[in-house]
Amino acid sequence: MQKFTLNKAVFPVAGLGTRFLPATKAQPKEMLPVVDKPLIQYAVEEAYAAGIRHMIFVTGRNKRAIEDHFDTAYELENELEVAQKHALLELVRSVQPDDMNFSYVRQPRSLGLGHAVLCAEHLVGNEAFAVLLADDLMVGPKGGKPVLAQMAEQFAEVQQSILAVQEVPQDQTKRYGIVATDGASTGLMKVKKIVEKPAPEVAPSRMGVAGRYILTPAIFAHIRAQAAGVGGELQLTDGISSLLGKESVYAFQYQGKRYDCGSKEGFLEATVELALEHPEVGVYFRNYLDNLQIGWSGRERRKQA
Ligand code: UTP
Repeated sequence: MQKFTLNKAVFPVAGLGTRFLPATKAQPKEMLPVVDKPLIQYAVEEAYAAGIRHMIFVTGRNKRAIEDHFDTAYELENELEVAQKHALLELVRSVQPDDMNFSYVRQPRSLGLGHAVLCAEHLVGNEAFAVLLADDLMVGPKGGKPVLAQMAEQFAEVQQSILAVQEVPQDQTKRYGIVATDGASTGLMKVKKIVEKPAPEVAPSRMGVAGRYILTPAIFAHIRAQAAGVGGELQLTDGISSLLGKESVYAFQYQGKRYDCGSKEGFLEATVELALEHPEVGVYFRNYLDNLQIGWSGRERRKQA
């Protein structure tokens, strides 16, 4: 059997981000900052921490800001150098370490996540690769490994596709790909079945797929073999479901927390929680929240006013 080393990550960033309009009318949702870093940078740093050095972006219209973010900002760097703002210069340069490579490919229309992954096929070749959905911001456990690094460790052992999963509330199965597994309830589990966004009554479990995957290159043929669904979309979940008939696929219950930054609620949660942990503004922000006295009920507030 071919022994895979994981060195490539695909970032599908060609979606329309309609849940964040009007903020995403002219800028990519992946460039929205949580505190001081755009979502896409969190995801790229997570891939880097998992040992990946080749970052492949599947982009679309209005996504130029992502390319610029990971390119040299010559004028800015020059200005900072002249002004001797060394710390800031360091910060700007740290976005693209010297050993990180970037490739970009366009998805001409939003034809689904499966289609977006297929667009990267010629850049991935016959290698295993990670897929990171940057709107899922993943934070590893305090002092522990980031989520993709946890998955890469498992992948080095099993050499088969791995999906990050978490338990989701029963009434939210319709938002996720849901897996049925071989019964084990922790760590790495063999996937028996995967269904895209099932209604709670028919969901095979409450194990929802989060936006981190490690896939073998066999997935490409399985995505291509799928019939397009509503709006001509090709779903990654359908490709994985077909792959299951040929290869083992694992679900991995990761350690850490996921923020669904594609939704306003998740984005706000991430902003508050990461701000509280931020080395520069954390203390200030905690005091600020304390002073807001948001534990008060509306009636108490009105009484005070
Ligand atoms: P989502 O459906 O969550 O993102 O796709 P979206 O379409 O951008 O957002 P809404 O629902 O309209 O607000 C999950 C991920 O897959 C990418 C998106 O960029 C996002 O990271 N994607 C989705 C593509 O790259 N191409 C597609 O055709 C669809």
